[in-house]
Amino acid sequence: MTWQDAGPRVAGQPPRVLPGGDPGAIREAADLLRSGRLVAFPTETVYGLGADALDRAAVARIFAVKDRPSFDPLIVHLAGAADVADHAEAADASDPRVARLGARFWPGPLTLVLRKRDHIPGIVTAGLPTVALRVPDHPVALALIRAAGVPVAAPSANRFGRVSPTRASHVVRSLGSRVSLVLDGGPCRVGIESTVVLLAEGRAILLRPGGVPSEAIEAEIGPLDHAADGVPGGAALAPGGSGAHYAPGARLEIVDPFGPGAARRLRARPGERLGLLATSTAGAQAARARGGPFAAEEVLAPDGDPVTVAARLFDALHDLDAAGLDRIVAQPVRAVGLGRAVMDRLRRAALDV
Ligand code: TXA
Ligand code: MG
Repeated sequence: MTWQDAGPRVAGQPPRVLPGGDPGAIREAADLLRSGRLVAFPTETVYGLGADALDRAAVARIFAVKDRPSFDPLIVHLAGAADVADHAEAADASDPRVARLGARFWPGPLTLVLRKRDHIPGIVTAGLPTVALRVPDHPVALALIRAAGVPVAAPSANRFGRVSPTRASHVVRSLGSRVSLVLDGGPCRVGIESTVVLLAEGRAILLRPGGVPSEAIEAEIGPLDHAADGVPGGAALAPGGSGAHYAPGARLEIVDPFGPGAARRLRARPGERLGLLATSTAGAQAARARGGPFAAEEVLAPDGDPVTVAARLFDALHDLDAAGLDRIVAQPVRAVGLGRAVMDRLRRAALDV
């Protein structure tokens, strides 16, 4: 398998970017999916790199294009909650918690991991007996899935381990000629990936914090175990859920500009190009007062509102990446609500690859 999804196109050419609102573009993209090719498309969370989930060779191409290890399973995107019964085992599809969460959060940034039916290929699930299912809340994604008439396996449309794309231009920059068509739906509204919850044998485990705050899920179905807190077997349940990820080119450090000892870490060393990722205006002011100078600055939200911080996080990391920095200092947020997903992504961006 080569990484080129070139098909009739010549490798090395940049992808075509078509407006996602154009019915002709949707038809063309759906035809590509049905013929085993890949299409990058917008969702409300991040852009996805899609393939027909039932076509093993097409799914294998996703792993090749992303340089993604095959032990990291993919999310299967559906057009509606009713389709869950087609792909999950009857016992899980009829779990009242699935109906509750589907009714409350779909379409939306929630992924449910349920026992799979036999026709879901092992390459999609990395050999696991479960499959991750989600109904995205984006008109272009839904139109594409409906037009293709197949479930669409899609990870985020970036090279493995790097910052997820929230604009069509990020996809083009990260994947280049490795993908032939990108549907442009503008910037992603939520800006951070879906929350992943495993529902099995009466248990409910948060595998990845994301666009739906875990507190909102708990309000519907009761307490969640958190894989990050070391649930027995948690690491095995959440492959790809740990370790370095979302990494910008520069080293990223989480530094509270109001914290003790922050000044030393906020100061640029001689010759160092230092970037600032502030989550609030007050944080940016404190960082400037105690450290710097900063070669580039991003302030995610004036008041530190976690919804705005989440929506702008990856966009800002892409911009800081483009500034050619040596080091980025990032202001933390409180790890509650959407802030939990923001801190998960910042912590993993800060790990050394
Ligand atoms: O918002 C999103 O979820 C985006 C958009 C494109 O839908 N997709 C996304 O996909 O973030 P990806 O591949 O970057 O992350 C999928 C996560 C991984 O952490 C993977 O390990 C987990 O879902 N996952 C998928 N299938 C699983 C399964 N059967 N069991 C446990 N975890 C699973
Ligand atoms: Mg990803």
